[in-house]
Amino acid sequence: MPVPLLDLKAQHALIRDDVVSAMLRVVDDQLFILGEPVERLERMVADLSRTRHAIGCASGTDALLLAMRALDIGRGDEVVTAPFTFFATAGTVHNLGATPVFVDIDPDTFNIAPDAAAAAVTSRTKAIIPIDLFGQMAPLEEIRARTPAIPIIEDAAQSIGANRMIGGQRVMAGEAATIGTFSFFPSKNLGGYGDGGMMVTQDDGIAERLRRLRVHGGATQYFHDEVGFNSRLDALQAAVLGAKLPHLSHWSAGRRANAAYYTSGFADVPELRTPCIDPANESIFNQYTLRAQRRDELQAYLKSKGIGSAIYYPLPLHLQPCFAYLGYKKGQLPESERAAQEVISLPVFPELTSSQLDEVVGTVRAFYGR
Ligand SMILES: Cc1ncc(COP(=O)(O)O)c(C=O)c1O
Repeated sequence: MPVPLLDLKAQHALIRDDVVSAMLRVVDDQLFILGEPVERLERMVADLSRTRHAIGCASGTDALLLAMRALDIGRGDEVVTAPFTFFATAGTVHNLGATPVFVDIDPDTFNIAPDAAAAAVTSRTKAIIPIDLFGQMAPLEEIRARTPAIPIIEDAAQSIGANRMIGGQRVMAGEAATIGTFSFFPSKNLGGYGDGGMMVTQDDGIAERLRRLRVHGGATQYFHDEVGFNSRLDALQAAVLGAKLPHLSHWSAGRRANAAYYTSGFADVPELRTPCIDPANESIFNQYTLRAQRRDELQAYLKSKGIGSAIYYPLPLHLQPCFAYLGYKKGQLPESERAAQEVISLPVFPELTSSQLDEVVGTVRAFYGR
């Protein structure tokens, strides 16, 4: 039985009426940029993230770009981040004229190692960008404890609704950062029907600046306090996302249940190292990513059986040709490089049926002769 890595049609079929009527309302109103649907979604995301502000923008990439601009990051500045992530985390740093400073990851969580992040801070460091990779929050409190004066931009593109116990309190993705950034790319747990993104913050001044920066830097139309960007969230995307958001916690719970099923199904396979499932650091499992011996052979075998999988990410950013000018050498960030060789992500979307789950478990086990 074929099992796709992701089946967006299965989800759309369940919510089609709500989403289509929300889209039709926008079409009938003929108001397509920002406006009421965006403001409504911003309130919903601020409530979910427990932040004072949420500001919609055109993509998760732009959310990072605007966040850095709001912190005045530019030429000559350094931004500390991890190289085991999607390209946008560091591409945006480069595009602002700043220098990405890559540090290694914690091999258990794939997230940035707080000691390494703190050790990389210099007088030129303007921010640290931890990534909440695969849906699980990075240890923000450990980073903040080591470098309290450095702003944190939490790249939460993959982790809206994730939460983590900090000081005995559950803290939501984005809540504790200087600025948290989300992506609504269609394959995310909360995905639009096109591109979209959002920034969250507790800081009134930063929020005002972000609102200005997304409309060419002018709080009043045709009057510009600074040069910003065109990075507005479409009303149509906001309408789709507003109809989907009430389902998010249910979908994320479904992903967690699927992840737990895999983890118990692979418990006796020594060639596999399953992701850490920690109720004190509740992942939304945007990906179910494990480490596998003979990873490439496993992926070819899964493909031959019609089972979708993906490698996130095959080449860490410090070794990408475009960042050769930064001078990193192979072997310099060994945990990131090892992860790139070993990881494989399996289908974990919430609409998977129990027979599809069993098919994935059985096929992986068969590959290892179990
Ligand atoms: C970790 C991370 N950061 C940033 C982004 C960029 O988001 P977008 O594709 O919405 O620009 C993504 C999207 O894949 C991501 O996974």
